[in-house]
This record gives sequence, C-alpha cells and structure tokens, in this order.
Amino acid sequence: SKPIVWISRPFFPDIVDRLRPWFEVRAETEERSFSPADLAGRLAGADAAIVGLAERIDATTIASAPRLRFVANLGVGYNNLDIGALTEAGIGASNTPDVLNETVADYAWALMLAAARRIGEAERWLRDGQWHGSRFEGWLGADVHGTTIGILGMGRIGQAIARRASGFRAKVIYHNRSRLAPEIEREYAATYVDKASLLAASDHLILVLPYTPQNHHAIGEPELKAMKPTATLVNVARGGIVDDAALARALADGTIAAAALDVFEGEPKVHPDLMKLQNIVLSPHIASASRDTRRDMAALAVDNVLAAFGHGPDAGRPPTILNPGVLADAS
Ligand code: GLV
Ligand code: GLV
Repeated sequence: SKPIVWISRPFFPDIVDRLRPWFEVRAETEERSFSPADLAGRLAGADAAIVGLAERIDATTIASAPRLRFVANLGVGYNNLDIGALTEAGIGASNTPDVLNETVADYAWALMLAAARRIGEAERWLRDGQWHGSRFEGWLGADVHGTTIGILGMGRIGQAIARRASGFRAKVIYHNRSRLAPEIEREYAATYVDKASLLAASDHLILVLPYTPQNHHAIGEPELKAMKPTATLVNVARGGIVDDAALARALADGTIAAAALDVFEGEPKVHPDLMKLQNIVLSPHIASASRDTRRDMAALAVDNVLAAFGHGPDAGRPPTILNPGVLADAS
C-alpha cells in the first residue's frame, strides 16, 4: 500500500495532486488549529507530513508517530520543529527558504511605509466618517526616503529588504551574527554596525531574525528606550523576538513613534494593549502571502516530500532538507 502523507491545511489542489501517484493523501479540508492530542492522532498513521508554523513537532509528537519519515514545513522559519528530536528519530525535515524572500521584503516595506505614514490609522478615521475637511497639520508622519533604515538579521530576506532602499535614497545599516562579505555590503550599500548603534541610529528598524531562545525578546524595554523617539519598528520575523507588552508601553508613552507587526507572541492571540493603540499596524502573519509565492512554497514542500521518498527530479535529495544527515544514515 502507498505511504500516507498528511497535510495540515488545505492548499492548491493541483499541487497536492502531484503527490497522489505515490501517496495516499490525507489533506485537511479546512483551516483549523490542532491540540497536541489532535496532532498526535493525525500523525499516528502518517509516513510524511506537510505542516504549517502553528503545528509544533517535538519529541512528544514524534513519539506518537511511529511511521513518520519526513516533515515538510510551510515556511522558512522552523522554530515549530524540534530538529534535534526529529534527527534523533531519523525523520527528515524541510522548510521553504528563498522562494519567499522578495515577497516578504515587499511586505516589510509595505508595513514600514504604512506605519511611518500612518496609513492604517488614517484609513480607520476616514471609514469612521470623521473626514469633514482638510487638516494641514493633520496626519503628519515620518518620511522613509532619505532616512536610515536598520535591519536586524541580514539573511537572504534582510538582503532583499536592503536592495529596495536605493530607490528611496535611504541608507542601510545592519546587525547580524556574522558580517556580510565586503562585495555584498557594497552591492546593497549596507553598513555593518553593532546592535547598540543600530538601535540608536535607525529611523526605521526592521526585524528579520530567526526565532531562537537567544533571540527571545531581542527587542524589549531597554532596546526600545535606546531607539529614536521618532522611530518606527517593523517585525516580519517571529513573535517573541519583540516583547509585545514592552512595545505596547513604548508606543503609548512615546518612547518610539510607531510600529508594524505581522507576527505576535502567542499568535493568533494579540496582546490586548497593542489592540488599543492607533500608532501600530497589525497584520495576521501574511508577509509571504502573495498568490505566486504561496504556490511556490506549497510546491517546494511537495518537492521535498516526493524527493524524500525517492520520486521526482530530486529523488533522494530533498532540495531544502534541514537535516541531510538523516538521509545519509538511512542509505
Ligand atoms: C513565515 O513566517 C515563514 O517563516 O515562512
Ligand atoms: C532571514 O534572516 C532569513 O533569510 O531567513
């Protein structure tokens, strides 16, 4: 009988169909969230799984999935996967890097512009029927062109964000665990600075760090206090990188001017103090959600599963496997 692949959320039927020659596909027919027990039940009979960022796959989940050999994550960040536990159990795992870089970079700029220019707030006011005449000194926001844009986390998404700065004649400074090669710094006209200088000098600060225990609350009260009072903060990385409660206080008392978040601590719940503020743009984790890119992410997840089971052009070599040693051990 065919191996079973479980897909935790509905997506593009034509892409799912590519699995059917080799797999029995068990795909969820609606979006839902899974309790740990539901997740264990779904995975109990599965040989492969395609999951989203809300599905936490750890040692406990794995213990209830004796047949599982491969997990494809629908996202570039994979802090929902315990890679150590998966590797130990001989289970391969993949993510979806690169295909979303440009789309997430577009969105980071959209959020930065929206927060700096107060687009969400102004739109709410207009829709509320409050526009009765022009206000010359109303809705004054911050410019983006000609400013200093700070990027914390200079991976491939950070670099795609940096590349967009030249049209705005903005200066890019960045901080990262490792410094970019000099020719790449030149290409993006990006200057490496330490974290303290990044906080102090950025007019707009964009976070693109992976979530790790070390990056938990990388932006908390002390970091917010180190920023300019006119600054905007954008998080397109992960909830938990920003201390959301501290951010709510900083926005309420003018420590910084504005923020835009696509990701939240404990999402889909959003800190109630953030919900009360006007000077923040809030979006439901959609930075990679363009029509083309979500298809590319789905296709890449399917390519990885097919390859892990010896099918397709990449047979035996899942293109974006995170723990390739697992396959070496198996062969
Ligand atoms: C989205 O958050 C991703 O990691 O792709
Ligand atoms: C960002 O840091 C990325 O490239 O994933």
